Amino acid sequence: MKKGKKLYEGKAKIIYASNDKNLVIQHFKDDATAFNNQKKDIIEGKGILNNRISEHILTQLSNVGIKNHLVKRLNMREQLVKLVEIIPIEFVVRNIATGSLTKRLGIEDGTVLEYPLIEYCLKNDELGDPLVSKEHIYAFNWMSVMELDWIDEQIRRINDFLQGMFRGVGIKLVDFKVEFGRFEADGKREIMLADEISPDTCRLWDMRTDKKLDKDRFRNNLGNLVEAYQEVAIRLDILHEQSNIRPLTYPKPKAVKIKKK
Ligand code: TMP
Ligand code: ASP
Repeated sequence: MKKGKKLYEGKAKIIYASNDKNLVIQHFKDDATAFNNQKKDIIEGKGILNNRISEHILTQLSNVGIKNHLVKRLNMREQLVKLVEIIPIEFVVRNIATGSLTKRLGIEDGTVLEYPLIEYCLKNDELGDPLVSKEHIYAFNWMSVMELDWIDEQIRRINDFLQGMFRGVGIKLVDFKVEFGRFEADGKREIMLADEISPDTCRLWDMRTDKKLDKDRFRNNLGNLVEAYQEVAIRLDILHEQSNIRPLTYPKPKAVKIKKK
């Protein structure tokens, strides 16, 4: 697949043209941003891990019939994906209250929600991705009623699937964000999931300890982000050992004196 010119650069990814007009190359950068780009850094190895984790998750979703933009992973940092027209809404799904929900509504951090909560945010960095209602979505023609109903159903299926997948490896899926796009080829139009799913876009807590295994390590200055993402990859059986990204660092074992009886 030949890489063409740069079409778009976002905060964490770059999109390049390919030699197929319906497909583009998505490059995962090491850049980390938070709070609408106010906090920035480069975290070596993050892009490689997100590429692998997202490939794994989107492939699993395809296997259960959830259409998405992934065609195939090309190399350590790049995927071939379908060229879609992105719907300008960020869909946030929450199973446990934390982050902006607790700040906005004063809900206690860690409250387990009885049902998954879906929120819609307008994808607009200048406005800080404001929360919008279904009525806003219809009023400004961002989606039709049919499209939104269909996406809501897909999102619930994605949430069910991901919750089960992560639960199986000892991780709680606290919340996540996804985007959808309209794909048109050979006179056929369809809507599909068109986003990465990775620790950059999900909140993942260790089941036993609630240790954060996601981008909150960067947002909240907790450190060891790459190590946490590696742990997610190892638990999902994508990385088999410390491999080629960066060695996992373990504290040096203390010398233990054995008392003579
Ligand atoms: P929030 O609590 O900050 O609204 O975030 C909810 C979820 O959405 C969390 O898993 C992080 C993810 N998210 C993104 O992927 N991109 C974003 O720009 C924001 C604000 C959140
Ligand atoms: N990705 C967003 C930003 O850069 C926000 C976030 O993930 O917290 O600002």
